[in-house]
Amino acid sequence: MYLYPLWVRLWHLTNAILFLALIVTGLSLQYSSNEFSIIPFNYAVSIHNISGIILCFTYVVYLLGNRFTSNGQYYQFPLKGMATRVWKQFRYYSFGIFRKEEAPYPVEIGRKFNPLQKLSYVIIMYLMMPLIIISGLFLFFPDLIPDSIMFLSGIHFVDLTHIFVGFVLSVFMLVHIYFCTIGKTPTSNFKSMIDGWH
Ligand code: HEM
Repeated sequence: MYLYPLWVRLWHLTNAILFLALIVTGLSLQYSSNEFSIIPFNYAVSIHNISGIILCFTYVVYLLGNRFTSNGQYYQFPLKGMATRVWKQFRYYSFGIFRKEEAPYPVEIGRKFNPLQKLSYVIIMYLMMPLIIISGLFLFFPDLIPDSIMFLSGIHFVDLTHIFVGFVLSVFMLVHIYFCTIGKTPTSNFKSMIDGWH
């Protein structure tokens, strides 16, 4: 089954490289002091800013791609029965898979993602990504940040949001890579993301 069109693969590759650059430079900025930094502070700021700006553009490509091609259909789901479907998939990952049970939602041409994948991709791509991009843009133009947000200094609030969402996205990336190893073979999903074929 041809499930990953070229634009999805190119977007995904660029997105993954930018994420790695953003995570490494972001951690370096977070933990740098006058005496120590993983990457020299000025370089880390420049790489983080440039990667973040490119990420904004690639994110728009992703949104448009999902809006105007059939790939968007894979992110849609009826809310009714969602919890049951997600639970069924979670139970399979926790127990069923080790008892060699059949996958409850195997990949089909009309079903690229199982319910748990679908839910996590929607939360990450349509909630967390906008949050990290908007908070990042505000930190890039700090004059636009209101003095106070929810009884905190505005810049502190935006910074905390950016760091918290960055942490969530970093954890997602690790869990995501782990789940990608659960395919027909440990490398088959990675191969699909290279040649498009499942
Ligand atoms: C080195 C890092 C990464 C690797 C090795 C990786 C690997 C993969 C693989 C093998 C797939 C295909 C299997 C599947 O559909 O689940 C995939 C799909 C996907 N990944 Fe990643 N990923 C990485 C980083 C990321 C990041 C940082 C994000 C988002 C923040 C992301 C979001 C997605 C999405 C949304 C899909 C489904 C795309 C579609 O078909 O519409 N990935 N990834």
